[in-house]
Amino acid sequence: MMNEAERLWPDDISLLDEDAAAKLLKELATLIAYHDTRYHGEDNPEISDADYDALTRLNQDVETHFPALIRKDSPSLQVGTAPSSAFGKITHNQPMLSLSKAFDKSDIDDFVDRISRFLVLASSDTITFTAEPKIDGLSISLRYEKGQLIEAATRGDGNVGEDVTANVMQIKDIPHQLIQSNMSASHVIPDVLEVRGEIYMTKADFQSLNNRQTDAGLNVFANPRNAAAGSLRQKDASITAARPLHFFAYAPGLISAPVSATHHGFLTLLSAWGFIVNPLTRLCHNTDELIGSWQEISATRARLNYDIDGVVYKVDRYDWQQRLGQVSRSPRWAIAHKFPAEQVETKLLDIDIQVGRTGALTPVARLEPVVVGGVTVSNATLHNEDELRRKDIRIGDNVILQRAGDVIPQIVRVNKAKRETDTPVFIFPENCPICQHPAIRPDGEVVRRCTGGFSCEAQRLERLKHFVSRNAMDIDGLGERQIEIFIEKGWIETVADIFRLPDRQIEIANLERMGAKSANNLVFSINAARKNELPRVIFGLGIRQIGQATARLLAQHYQSLDGLMKACHNAKGQKSDTYADLVAIDQIGASVAEDLIRFFGDEANIAMIEDLLGEIQPLAPFNPKNSVISGKTVVFTGKLTTMSRTEAKGQAERLGARVSGSVSAKTDFVIAGPDAGSKARKAAEIGIKILSEDEWRSFINS
Ligand code: IVH
Repeated sequence: MMNEAERLWPDDISLLDEDAAAKLLKELATLIAYHDTRYHGEDNPEISDADYDALTRLNQDVETHFPALIRKDSPSLQVGTAPSSAFGKITHNQPMLSLSKAFDKSDIDDFVDRISRFLVLASSDTITFTAEPKIDGLSISLRYEKGQLIEAATRGDGNVGEDVTANVMQIKDIPHQLIQSNMSASHVIPDVLEVRGEIYMTKADFQSLNNRQTDAGLNVFANPRNAAAGSLRQKDASITAARPLHFFAYAPGLISAPVSATHHGFLTLLSAWGFIVNPLTRLCHNTDELIGSWQEISATRARLNYDIDGVVYKVDRYDWQQRLGQVSRSPRWAIAHKFPAEQVETKLLDIDIQVGRTGALTPVARLEPVVVGGVTVSNATLHNEDELRRKDIRIGDNVILQRAGDVIPQIVRVNKAKRETDTPVFIFPENCPICQHPAIRPDGEVVRRCTGGFSCEAQRLERLKHFVSRNAMDIDGLGERQIEIFIEKGWIETVADIFRLPDRQIEIANLERMGAKSANNLVFSINAARKNELPRVIFGLGIRQIGQATARLLAQHYQSLDGLMKACHNAKGQKSDTYADLVAIDQIGASVAEDLIRFFGDEANIAMIEDLLGEIQPLAPFNPKNSVISGKTVVFTGKLTTMSRTEAKGQAERLGARVSGSVSAKTDFVIAGPDAGSKARKAAEIGIKILSEDEWRSFINS
């Protein structure tokens, strides 16, 4: 099945217009928020991490191209998820932030350099850091007043979390009453003390919980993190009590009076007051020591009874943390140095070729399911045929699969030692597996695409959607849902079929959630679209590289769809005058020409267009300079009988006239219907030429 990102992914983000980009960002915001809720809010993800990741990457890519369109509710500005309504809300006194990520030594060097530049330190100045394991659980903010636990909140969206006080009270690692030892004054517990840390479940407890869930016929959790989250976020706190949850404290929130100048000092206090602080925490003074701690923690990782996914480095001095502040949602004073991807070996059972909405053929590996990075993986993208060839991946191979934290699972290589001798090389298909049309790969491109266009089922819905969209045929009332229904009913297959829908007006009206009025409106907009401007029709065909602007140029040049089709059909071979004529058009180079020639060289496309031309009469763009009303100002008044006011206005404007709403000395013509009133009178008074609708029509056609 096609995943959501694949469905939404445009051919080329830079070719999106603003409307389309804004629409896409809106759709992504809704979709990602939905999956966030499934994942964080309900601890019950519906899509794989890889698919989720692909959605957020698409969102990121579109935002990079259209920074002005970044939405207030953009997923890139969110941390976690909005609190669920099952719990009360708590606004954090200080936001709960995320951590930026580092993967190698150069990222750590950059991190340290950035800090020392920001603080304007001399090279001899030492920055002390703490290095602590990054616990893979869920973060929580605890509020103590006079040493007494009074409130606990999840991170939520970073600003507002859920009130899980009753549940947190059940966790044994979390003290209800802090211990006031009577040593120095600095150990005095402040009146208000917020402590942040991670709630987690051990690997062993996760296993036995899942065993119990299975025995009881209940859902199992994907990993300890989800199990911890699911166990904490129970409406009935007694369920939480029965689940073995643990806690490490690692950061301050709001504190009524400062207690320590350094982070390691604060951690020492936390442990004196009764919290559990991670014993692997170290102090480091330079990049080498940081990397040293990372290696040490890395080496113990497999032996730990809880999951960690990296090491967090934090500037130790709180006054420096304060000065460094944050960038977007992450502090400048901390970074998470992630562990490299976990790798596992599994068997490649098959290679499927998926056809995306744009016709792109993507090889997908079907794998013997394995757990990697905490999730079960049974599919992985193989990207494209070059990748397959480079890695020499064959069906039946044992492959090394890797999944780095939150990225898509990848096949890194084949374990050739285990390959059987007679395994055949995988041959990438040259025809679309859905419609059997040739799938071709233009020079210099990595993607092979199906040329089936509308005749390919995989592309049909998207192509029809594009055809009726606002910048193309603009057929109101024909949205994705309707198109899906009509395809399913077998009423539409190609664009021409849309114009035969009016014959089914009654059947349409009888559809669920339709009704006579909607059916009537739909028929009206379909009929109105029969006389659309030619550039809209050309753009609507969805020919590769033909955007609105190019469609306009082609329409201007060829004046009819038939003309364009014949020219491109005859331009094959690149030696003809027709080819020279085509590439002489401004902005049309060899590559665009090639796509046009390919499109109009396909018999199925020709048949489709001929069919379409039996249904519509596109309006060729006029050359306004030659028209009799070019530069004139006209006023329409009274009721028109042969066309609507909008149509009349559009026609006059296309001929280069200005259409005004009121009569003045500057008016050249008034076109008056039989019931015209004051405007016609005024025109007569000041001696402006008044035309009937009939006279007007013969005048502009003269
Ligand atoms: S410090 C802004 N320390 O990682 C820094 N976070 O990606 C506040 N986490 O939401 C967090 N172990 O859930 C910090 N030793 C540690 C951590 C840790 C795990 C989690 C925490 C946070 C997330 C940020």
